[in-house]
Amino acid sequence: MDAIRIVGGRRLAGRVRVSGAKNAALPILCATLLSEGESHLRNVPRLQDIETTAALLHTLGRPVDCKPPEVTVFAPTTIHPEAPYDLVTKMRASVLVLGPLVARYGRARVSLPGGCQIGTRPIDQHLKGLEALGATIAIEHGYVVASAKRLRGAELVLDMATVTGTENLMMAAALAQGRSHIVNAAREPEVVELARVLNKMGAKVSGAGTGVIQIEGAAELAPFDHAIVSDRIEAGTYMVAVAAAGGEALLEGVPVEDLEALIAKLRAARVVVEPDGTGVRVARDGRLHSVDVTTSPHPGFPTDMQAQFMVLMCLADKTARMSETVFENRFMHVPELGRMGADIEVSGHTAFVKGVSGLSAANVMATDLRASASLVIAGLVAEGETLVSRVYHLDRGYEAMEEKLGALGANVVRVRGGSV
Ligand code: EPU
Repeated sequence: MDAIRIVGGRRLAGRVRVSGAKNAALPILCATLLSEGESHLRNVPRLQDIETTAALLHTLGRPVDCKPPEVTVFAPTTIHPEAPYDLVTKMRASVLVLGPLVARYGRARVSLPGGCQIGTRPIDQHLKGLEALGATIAIEHGYVVASAKRLRGAELVLDMATVTGTENLMMAAALAQGRSHIVNAAREPEVVELARVLNKMGAKVSGAGTGVIQIEGAAELAPFDHAIVSDRIEAGTYMVAVAAAGGEALLEGVPVEDLEALIAKLRAARVVVEPDGTGVRVARDGRLHSVDVTTSPHPGFPTDMQAQFMVLMCLADKTARMSETVFENRFMHVPELGRMGADIEVSGHTAFVKGVSGLSAANVMATDLRASASLVIAGLVAEGETLVSRVYHLDRGYEAMEEKLGALGANVVRVRGGSV
């Protein structure tokens, strides 16, 4: 397994371009299943999760030419509507084929994802919504088996604003007969992006980005050509990296309007964040200020930025209270940051992060995607050589991170086979 070696202590300077959004590209790749034709995606990030989704589509009977930033999904050969265990355990978002398959082919067999490092992550809302649309659902031998003749529009009231749950149900409703409402829908920008694509395909989706989404289903949907929006979490990660290491950088292609909660917290922490043309200029010189953060669904502070922001708070002047409300076990980076000299106490869902004067390099282990990013950022700050192991987590969601950080002047290299 690869590792990333960072020699910390350098300020960052330069410019870097943000890639296409992973969490927008994944549902949109699955949306190609809703039509028979050949769809084209552009601005797709080069990531392991994209490869896994391409492999899944292939298994289902849709050949894919996966050459990010371009991906073409071809017309079906023979459809085999089963998402097997080995692909779903690699990537939970595989469950996003469930809605499209049952809507388009009337049947689907998708391995239940099970828990992951950051929480138990059930999919009960996906299943409850599909049942309300008229699908019959059974759990057999660890698989969700769904079947339906033609789905019918319905009012779907979610118990919590789940992102992939909303997306799965939007895709299913797009081929249902009649009108559906998703109440308490997720408002994340990736949901809005999926709505854009479904509208291009011929469904009538309105209200995406609010808590109630209306979908007028179509009998057939057309293939599409779409360029994926920039990745707000990748953008936010580089903003925090510059703020943590100090210096000044121009980040190009930042979806500023999707990052308001993060930008407000960065400014409160005394980081300069200024829109500059199509990008954002980020700078930090003096001591960071401690600010409290509570994660919540969009437009709140994103859980996917909690680990990275925690590194900033490790370097701030007082004690920051950071509460995680979206996932129950998303503090896996805390003990690793502790090994680098951070002073963090966790009590339930809250971490009390006391600022220290600096971090010290260490060998640390990545546990999930965003935790990995936080350890790399900590490595940029720490004096000496940090080795972050198990960076396959990082490769799932950050395109060429070592190159992009290198372009900002950081000393970051990939060590092939460098970890256990
Ligand atoms: N939940 C349920 N039942 C459900 C669905 C969700 O109880 O049927 C709970 C979850 O257990 C969790 C909360 O609801 O506590 C929110 O989970 P959500 O379903 O919104 O998360 P997700 O759709 O599985 C997506 C992103 C995650 C991101 C979360 C929250 C994708 C592919 N994944 O996951 O991204 O953290 O929304 O914003 O879009 C990442 O990129 O690192 C990542 C983990």
